[in-house]
Amino acid sequence: MMTSASHNRIPSIFVLGASGFVGQQVWKLGAQEQVTLTALRRRGQVDETLGKVIQGDMASFDWSSLSAQPPDAIIHTARISGRTAPERYLAGWRGWLANRSLERWRTSINHTKDDSRLHLPHSEARASMNHTENDSRLHLPHSEARASMNTRANHADDGERLSQTHSGERLHTPTRLVFASGSLVYGDCGTTPVYESSPLHPIAFQRSYVRAEKPFLKRAHQSDAALCIARLPWIYGAGSWFAQFYIRTARRDGYVTQYGSGKQLMSLIHVEDAAGMMLSLATNTTASGVYNLVGGPAVSHGDFCRLVARELGLPVKEMPETQVWSKFGKTVAEALTFSSDVRTEREELQSYILKHPSLETSIRDVITALDR
Ligand SMILES: NC(=O)c1ccc[n+]([C@@H]2O[C@H](COP(=O)([O-])OP(=O)(O)OC[C@H]3O[C@@H](n4cnc5c(N)ncnc54)[C@H](OP(=O)(O)O)[C@@H]3O)[C@@H](O)[C@H]2O)c1
Repeated sequence: MMTSASHNRIPSIFVLGASGFVGQQVWKLGAQEQVTLTALRRRGQVDETLGKVIQGDMASFDWSSLSAQPPDAIIHTARISGRTAPERYLAGWRGWLANRSLERWRTSINHTKDDSRLHLPHSEARASMNHTENDSRLHLPHSEARASMNTRANHADDGERLSQTHSGERLHTPTRLVFASGSLVYGDCGTTPVYESSPLHPIAFQRSYVRAEKPFLKRAHQSDAALCIARLPWIYGAGSWFAQFYIRTARRDGYVTQYGSGKQLMSLIHVEDAAGMMLSLATNTTASGVYNLVGGPAVSHGDFCRLVARELGLPVKEMPETQVWSKFGKTVAEALTFSSDVRTEREELQSYILKHPSLETSIRDVITALDR
């Protein structure tokens, strides 16, 4: 589909993992932004009133079925997982195979549509990305303007964004990809700030799952990759680890469990901001590479527990680190006790205006939502 560069065009986004904790928010927020949405659903529920849902498994999905009308972007929040260590090892390899096949397809297709003006038309809006003085602009017209992402480089005029074939035919950039990864890939970093350029020392679940991101990691640093690896810290919301390890256990035990000394640092982001940032990266036609998604300054685990406990009206009780390891085993214990102060040096993200800047207020809202 070729559209005139003088008209903003509504982006089409394909969501992987739309039934999951993070993917559900991407799906919901994308619909609010009036993005044209498609999801690949394996088992879980996906709200079919918000977009087109295709039944399938990413391990066997035939990507070429999208070649006739490739989406502008894919937001990939699907993770093939396992419960035991051997299952996770296999899951990492299955994820690698699935993602290699996605990446092969993505780099093989040539778009013929003009993506110079992806436009989110009905935004309450999280972001506006100003690409200096050229045309390639994600425009959020009704923005309360949570964000303005100024791209560092200005590669966006058609002459630079379009590649050239041997015959001189101009091809458009491929379907953009935003892949959800986690800050566990940086490992336990104590109090040393972690930036996008920090070395990878995967721990806990990421020892196995990092394999799945390898097909993207290889490409992410190439300027024409149209690929963003989003490194997410602890994502809080009404589900996932926060419900499991803090709220349900606290309601059951009558206290909030502090895992270990409480000195370890936690970087957190609200799930709506995680989704909002990924959506922004998906529609920013010049963003590429690794992006740490940060929801605010890191807090100590002890302070986090005290905050949750205050909201619940319960005390905090420490579970000594040795007990954490014997109760949960190495993988979960590492995840519960690792220390990470995630920061970003990407200008685009530093100017994103958070929807949930106050951890205190947002934790209160999330607990209220969980209690409903
Ligand atoms: N939650 C966090 O705090 C956090 C923090 C940092 C990074 N992350 C990263 O963010 C990503 C999403 O996390 P999440 O918490 O949203 O996970 P989640 O709730 O477990 O969701 C995983 C999603 O992947 C889908 N999926 C799994 N295997 C699939 C397959 N073979 N084909 C198609 N879809 C498949 C699941 O679909 P089904 O409904 O079929 O199971 C589900 O929608 C993960 O990569 C995770 O590492 C999460």
